[in-house]
Amino acid sequence: MLNNMPIINGDPLWALLGRFRTDQRKHKIDLLVGVYRDKHGNTPVMKTVQDAEIHLAHQAHSKAYGMLSGNANFNQQMAKFVLGDSPSLKDQCTIQTVGASGALRLIADLIATLSPDSTVWISDPGYINHRPLMEGAGLAVNTYPWQNKNGQLDIDACFAALEKAKEGDVLLLHACCHNPTGIDPSLEQWQLFSDKCKQKNIVPFIDMAYQGFGDDPDTDAAGLRLIIEDSDFAFIAASCSKNMGLYNERTGIATVMTTNHERHADIQTLLETITRANYSMPPNHGAAVASYLLDSPDAWLDELASYRSRVDTIRQALGAALKDRGAPAEFLDISHQKGMFSLLPLTKNQMLILQDEFAIYGMPNGRINIAGLKMTEIPQLADAIISIVSR
Ligand SMILES: Cc1ncc(COP(=O)(O)O)c(C=O)c1O
Repeated sequence: MLNNMPIINGDPLWALLGRFRTDQRKHKIDLLVGVYRDKHGNTPVMKTVQDAEIHLAHQAHSKAYGMLSGNANFNQQMAKFVLGDSPSLKDQCTIQTVGASGALRLIADLIATLSPDSTVWISDPGYINHRPLMEGAGLAVNTYPWQNKNGQLDIDACFAALEKAKEGDVLLLHACCHNPTGIDPSLEQWQLFSDKCKQKNIVPFIDMAYQGFGDDPDTDAAGLRLIIEDSDFAFIAASCSKNMGLYNERTGIATVMTTNHERHADIQTLLETITRANYSMPPNHGAAVASYLLDSPDAWLDELASYRSRVDTIRQALGAALKDRGAPAEFLDISHQKGMFSLLPLTKNQMLILQDEFAIYGMPNGRINIAGLKMTEIPQLADAIISIVSR
């Protein structure tokens, strides 16, 4: 069997992280993985999460198996958090998943079961794991462009690519804080995406990984709610990794939206059947914590607001530092973008120089994790960028 081992390149993100860890330079900066860091450079357990865990530890009475669909209160509260008071709430079938990654794969498996010839359209650039997750389920993947040279959403180029989409294809969109560009559609543009889906009979699939990191959670969900309310059939993957800091608890939901309520029981059974044949059921802890927070969300929402504000402060400070140093205009868009990431307009080779000469680690495509930067590191990063672009 081992003789048939294919040559596998592995995920470039984790390979770079390995290199960062062995780098001995004291001034090294890690802008690789999408995690929030505080002013000391730590990714803390949220205070409200800790309080929830203490409460749950005192209540714990059994580790017996749960339901295949996971924690029912969590599923219901998450659907409400994502969809708000939208009338579409009655159209959802939701199942707890192993993070948004698990949700993306579960829905990909569901699409592969119901419509194996569907192509999933993902943005380029986009989330590094979208393609493997969709292809892993056996689905064909195609791409649409996202950003123009001026650092704005290139909706014309995007729609030109989608002209090739066929009926029954799936359009995967980031709900907010687009990874890696930080460029989100306006509500008017969400309406255009919705119109395009209806016109071409393609199914919207919305990936909500950062709700509450760009703006308040309702604002971040406004585009998703618009397109969902406009559609008869759609998919949602949502995550608690970032907005609750539950990264390694692998907590999320997969939601199938359909106005055809007669099909709800079958959809639920199909989701559970795919899950059962994969990992049987999702783990309990993260969902129990999230469920507790969502039952009385005020303190957690305040804590999330403080995270959001810190990331935005860093973003604005980096934009200002680049402006003060006379950086080219395309670098200044950083200030208008949203969420954890931005894409530096640097080539692969320039990103390598950033790493080799300046000990600053970003992704080869220029992605940096703004939420991983300390205020004190901003001059080092801005100076390095200016040095590289002025060669
Ligand atoms: C757009 C997007 N979707 C999904 C995920 C995966 O999230 P999770 O940790 O919940 O699996 C990420 C994580 O970086 C992401 O950026």
